[in-house]
Amino acid sequence: MGGEPYYGPDFGLLRKQDPELAQVLLDELDRQRGNLQLVASENFTSPAVLAAMGSTLTNKYAEGYPGRRYYGGCEVVDRAERLAVQRARELFGAEHANVQPHSGASANLAAYAALLQPGDTMLAMALPHGGHFTHGSKVNFSGKWFNVVSYGVRRDTELIDYDEVRDLALRHQPKLIVCGATAYPRLIDFTVFRCIADEVGAWLLADVAHTIGLMAGGAIPSAVPHADVVTLTTHKALRGPRGGAILCTEELAPKIDRAVYPFIQGGPLMHVVAAKAVAFAEAMRPEFADYARRVVVNAQALAEALAGEGMRAVSGGTDTHLALIDLRDLDVSGAEAERRCARAGITLNRNVIPYDPEPAAVTSGIRVGTPCVTTQGMGSQELKEVGTLVTRAVRQPGRAAEIRERVSALLAIHQPYLSEY
Ligand SMILES: Cc1ncc(COP(=O)(O)O)c(C=O)c1O
Repeated sequence: MGGEPYYGPDFGLLRKQDPELAQVLLDELDRQRGNLQLVASENFTSPAVLAAMGSTLTNKYAEGYPGRRYYGGCEVVDRAERLAVQRARELFGAEHANVQPHSGASANLAAYAALLQPGDTMLAMALPHGGHFTHGSKVNFSGKWFNVVSYGVRRDTELIDYDEVRDLALRHQPKLIVCGATAYPRLIDFTVFRCIADEVGAWLLADVAHTIGLMAGGAIPSAVPHADVVTLTTHKALRGPRGGAILCTEELAPKIDRAVYPFIQGGPLMHVVAAKAVAFAEAMRPEFADYARRVVVNAQALAEALAGEGMRAVSGGTDTHLALIDLRDLDVSGAEAERRCARAGITLNRNVIPYDPEPAAVTSGIRVGTPCVTTQGMGSQELKEVGTLVTRAVRQPGRAAEIRERVSALLAIHQPYLSEY
C-alpha cells in the first residue's frame, strides 16, 4: 500500500464531503480565536488531546471495565482505559479512579446513585450561592429524587458559612454532604467539611469539576485526601477532553463502578477515555504546575484590575481561576453586561451573586475566569489590560468597536492553536 498510514481525522475530506458542516467547524475555530475567552469553565485543549478524540476509538463498544467487557475485541481499548485510570490515580493521589463518566453531571448522578437511595437527605451548596444545578435544583434529578437541604455563604463575608453547614448537618442528619461549587471564587476548607461529615456519619462528596486542574497542578490544596468521593470534569482548568471522572476510596470502588456502568451509562466513549489519558499525562508535567499557578495569579490580577475600576469582586477577590463580579453599583444587569462584552469581542457569562435581587436570567453579576487566556500565554500585565477592556465594554457600550480592535491586537500576539503549550 504506500503512502501515509490512515490515521483518522482528515479535515480536507470533511470539507469536500460536507462543506456545510466543515464551515461550522471553521467558524467555531474563528470564534474561539477571534474573541477573548473569559468563560471560567472553558479551556483550549491541546492538539494531542484533540487527536485522541478524533480517533477510530470512537468505533469501539466496550461496556464493562478493562479485562471484564461485554464485547469482544476490547484488548486495545483496554490499554487506553488502564492508562487513563493509572494516570488519574497517580496524578490525583487517589486509591481508585473511574474515567468513564460522560460529563460532570453524569459523574454526580453516578456518585449519588452509589451512595444514596431515592428520598435520602443530602446537604449541598445552594445554587444562588454558587452551587451547581446537580446539587439539588428542582429542575434536575438531584432535587426531584432526594431531600436536599442547602447551605450558603454569609451575607457579610460572602464566604461559606461553616457554622451553618454544621448546624444544618446536625439538624437534618444527611446521608451525604456535597461540597464544591460552580461559582465560588475562594478555597473550600475540605478539612472542616470532613469533620462535619464525620460528626454526623455522612459521606463526603467533593464536586471539584471547576478546580481539579488547579489541584492537579498543586496550585490549591486537593480535596482527594479528605473526601470519600471526588467528582470532576476533565475539560475545564484541567485542559482535557469534554468529560467527567470519579475518584474514590478502595472501599467505595465497586459501588462507584457499578453506579457508572451499568446503572447510569452504557458503552464508554473510548476516544474520550483515551483523550483523558493524554490530558492526565500532560497535567503531570512540571509545565502544568506552572500553568495552574499562573491561572490563579492571572485571576487575581484580573479581579484586582476590575475592582480598581469600580467592579467589586464578590468576597473581595479570588484564590482560584475565577472571580464573580458584582455589578449593582454600575446599574447594569449581568445579562446586559454579557451582551455588551460580546459586542466588544469578549465572551463571558452572567452569573447570580449571593443574595442577588435579580432572577437567574438577568442577574446582578458576571463570572470571569482565566484558564483560556493563560493557555494562550497571557500574564498579569495582559490581564490588567483585560480588566480595563471588560470595564470599558460594560460601562461604555458606545466604544464596542474600539475595544474590539484592542482585543484583536491582544489576541494577535496570543493565538490559541498556533503556539506550543
Ligand atoms: C461544580 C460542577 N459540577 C458539575 C458540573 C457539570 O459538568 P458537565 O457540564 O460536564 O455535565 C459543572 C459544570 O459546570 C460544575 O461546575
